[in-house]
Amino acid sequence: MNNKFYITTPIYYPSGRFHIGTAYTTVLADSIKRYHNLKEEDTYLLTGTDEHGQKIQEKAKELGETPKEYVDKMATMAKELWAKMDIQYNDFIQTTEERHEKIVQKIFDRFMEQGDIYKGEYEGWYCVPCETYFTQTQLIDGKCPDCGREVKLMKEESYFFNMKKYANRLLEYYNEHPNFIKPAFRKNEMINNFIKPGLEDLCVTRTSFDWGIKVLKDPKHVIYVWVDALSNYLTALGYLSEDETLFKKYWPADLQIVGKDIARFHLIYWPIFLMALDLPLPKTILVHNWIMMKDGKMSKSKGNVIYPETLIERYGLDATRYFLLREVPVMQDGFFSPEAFIERYNFDLCNDLSNLLNRTVSMVNKYFEGKVPNYNGKQNQVDEEFEKFTIDQIEKFEKKVEDYEIANALQEIWTIISRTNKYIDETMPWLLAKEENKEKLESCMYHLIESLRKIAILIKPFMNDTAENIFRQIGIKQEKLKGWKLLKQYDKLEDIYVIQKGEPIFMRLNAEEEIDFIKSAMKS
Ligand code: MSP
Repeated sequence: MNNKFYITTPIYYPSGRFHIGTAYTTVLADSIKRYHNLKEEDTYLLTGTDEHGQKIQEKAKELGETPKEYVDKMATMAKELWAKMDIQYNDFIQTTEERHEKIVQKIFDRFMEQGDIYKGEYEGWYCVPCETYFTQTQLIDGKCPDCGREVKLMKEESYFFNMKKYANRLLEYYNEHPNFIKPAFRKNEMINNFIKPGLEDLCVTRTSFDWGIKVLKDPKHVIYVWVDALSNYLTALGYLSEDETLFKKYWPADLQIVGKDIARFHLIYWPIFLMALDLPLPKTILVHNWIMMKDGKMSKSKGNVIYPETLIERYGLDATRYFLLREVPVMQDGFFSPEAFIERYNFDLCNDLSNLLNRTVSMVNKYFEGKVPNYNGKQNQVDEEFEKFTIDQIEKFEKKVEDYEIANALQEIWTIISRTNKYIDETMPWLLAKEENKEKLESCMYHLIESLRKIAILIKPFMNDTAENIFRQIGIKQEKLKGWKLLKQYDKLEDIYVIQKGEPIFMRLNAEEEIDFIKSAMKS
């Protein structure tokens, strides 16, 4: 088994408040990290902000701030949001930090010395907000194919990275490493759309603005955003610095998560830069789809933006994280709607999970004065099937998380929750009590508490506070009973007392009122 896990999110453009879509990548990364923590691996999560480029320079000017003042303010804002979302990052890198800039210059120098970079002239259709040049054929109705805004024809002296030189090596790498790109269809997209038609060399410097890292040997050029931005995954670990301890320990990354819009940069340019540096490639790059609104992309002008803080303040962090992770199936876009959010809350969290906990705690109080009976084996076929089913589900869950299908992994947990609710209907503890069938009643209560313990362990990476709340209510205090090692065991609970009066962890919401609330928050 792997004993370290280095995971990265993209570094964010500090261009405004983060909406739930932007928060998605980071919540996903944090949850996967926490899963590996649960398995007692040594994890390291990197995130940060991508702070150079014309767009940022212009934005700062508009606000009457220096670019550095502006990006620092935005990085603080990002950190505040991550604190609210309980993101356990180990490092937050800003690309304007010296530790990053100095190393990017070294990397660029090395590319120049090796002849990977050459000087030329670039002409193309440039989209300022996206900081991307497009060819004529890539434009849609003469506008930027990514954001639909106006593009300008620009020409400038530039340095180019010779991508063509690495195209075959990249293809070979793709073929020999089936886990390198997930989901696999993204690999075909890269091959068919970009590599087969002939990889174009990438323009890697600019002279038209100066908010960037200067090329040491030709300082009128600043390093264009992707060599700068992508290198953060290495510079944060101290690559080429005086202290490479972290780099030696954690590189290559185990998982790099990116949204679909930046797939090309991570699946083509990034591995090529790493090849040019003679470095091993990340084990997996996971490309996720987007959270969309019914009327398309989230945008302020459409009045359909939803911010994580709005949901967290009213419904709690765990409900917010649950929704994001459950609704975006990674391989397809997911949709946010106030109706879907409230439905998930009322059905999955309140009806299924919270009620199960409540019923169980009150039955243990009623029939055994709060003391969970010890395990007395499987009393009948129902118990036997229930145990087997739960263990099979845990294995399915594990497989889904390890394939990074988080929405499906959550679905597997909810299958256990439904099965546990069904177990109550099948065993009918109220009848067992009436019949004074003590052994079966003991077994029934034990199995319910045990199932809730397992559910709490499984949801911990995604909804930490909810998991802790379940442990507290069912009287699980020892850390080892909350961990992965004893997850599949059935006979480890002894001297356990549930709390005297269960408290609902999620209360049913008035759907109409809450839908109105979210709708009006989206407009403000
Ligand atoms: N700065 C670059 C990344 C450089 S990485 C070396 C960037 N930043 S970003 O702020 O624009 O986007 C950050 C991440 O948020 C990307 O992975 C992007 O796909 C993701 N998302 C932005 N909107 C999103 C949704 N609506 N839904 C899900 N993810 C979304 O790109």
